[in-house]
Amino acid sequence: MARIETTVEKLRQRAREEILSASDQDALEEARVAYLGRRGKIRELLGNISELPENERPKAGQLLNELKNELAHLHEKRAAELREGAGEAAGEAALDVTLPGRPAHLGKRHPVTRTINEITDIFARMGFCAVYGPEVETVHNNFECLNMPLDHPSRDAFDTFFIRGRPDLVLRSHTSPVQIRAMQRQEPPLRVVVPGRTYRPDTVDATHSFMFNQVEGLAVDEDISMADLKYCLDRFAKAYYGGRAETRFRPHYFPFTEPSAEMDVSCIFCDGRGCRVCGGTGWVEVLGCGMVHPNVFRSVGYDPEKYTGFAFGMGVERLCMLKHQIEDMRLFYENDVRFLSQF
Ligand code: PHE
Repeated sequence: MARIETTVEKLRQRAREEILSASDQDALEEARVAYLGRRGKIRELLGNISELPENERPKAGQLLNELKNELAHLHEKRAAELREGAGEAAGEAALDVTLPGRPAHLGKRHPVTRTINEITDIFARMGFCAVYGPEVETVHNNFECLNMPLDHPSRDAFDTFFIRGRPDLVLRSHTSPVQIRAMQRQEPPLRVVVPGRTYRPDTVDATHSFMFNQVEGLAVDEDISMADLKYCLDRFAKAYYGGRAETRFRPHYFPFTEPSAEMDVSCIFCDGRGCRVCGGTGWVEVLGCGMVHPNVFRSVGYDPEKYTGFAFGMGVERLCMLKHQIEDMRLFYENDVRFLSQF
């Protein structure tokens, strides 16, 4: 009896010593294998129990099992200590203050916003200041003041969304009503550009949307002529598309200008020779313009005998698409960063 107790006690001391002093996981594993492993000391002694006198066997079994539990527990504890220590050490190594910082992910302006800024900047250099108006507009400003009485056929071209229960309000179908607001606010001379969202009940496809952006322009003074309009818009085209861009003006009709024109810019991708972007014509249509109709001046109380002016309006998405060869307008509204981050 005494013999087995001394054996176990010696074993306990050695094993505890080895486990507790193990300085890394490898040393600890070695100690575990030596004492607790399948061919370890404890198993060995347990295997030898049958050689003991019969009355000593239960006691020996009990002592060895207790020792096994004790050592397993101790091993667990030491393993945890080592893991923690390793974690701390790794933590220290990971904190390398000489590493360059991680760059912050910076957002960017939306291509439509950038295009609006580019356009308004160009006109700002020619003395136009940016003004804004509401997207929910009065029928009066969206149509009547712009020389489109209720029975006028061109109302169809500027069809829009009406507001239930408010027959006097619409979602503006162009930014031209802000011309009216600007003229009501101040006397000539006046030079404004108006960026903003507009609405039309168009079916969404690669070149149409029920909502899109326009930039409107208006200049009013004494003695403003069509030559001023052409000069100003030609300068704009060269500034926006590059110095080689040529412009041409084709007669057109708008109820709020007379005469009216559409301006084309020579295709920047083929220099006017004709390609896929310009449909082989060498020209792309970019905006509508004209000399302000006397009826528009009358609607805001300007004297059409004294003042003349020109106005123009352009689609922002379209201008951006033409410059960057974007083929589908829907890309602007889908919020896909893979597209948006390219600008
Ligand atoms: N408002 C017109 C449109 O939306 C553009 C335009 C503005 C034309 C000003 C002439 C003068 O198509």
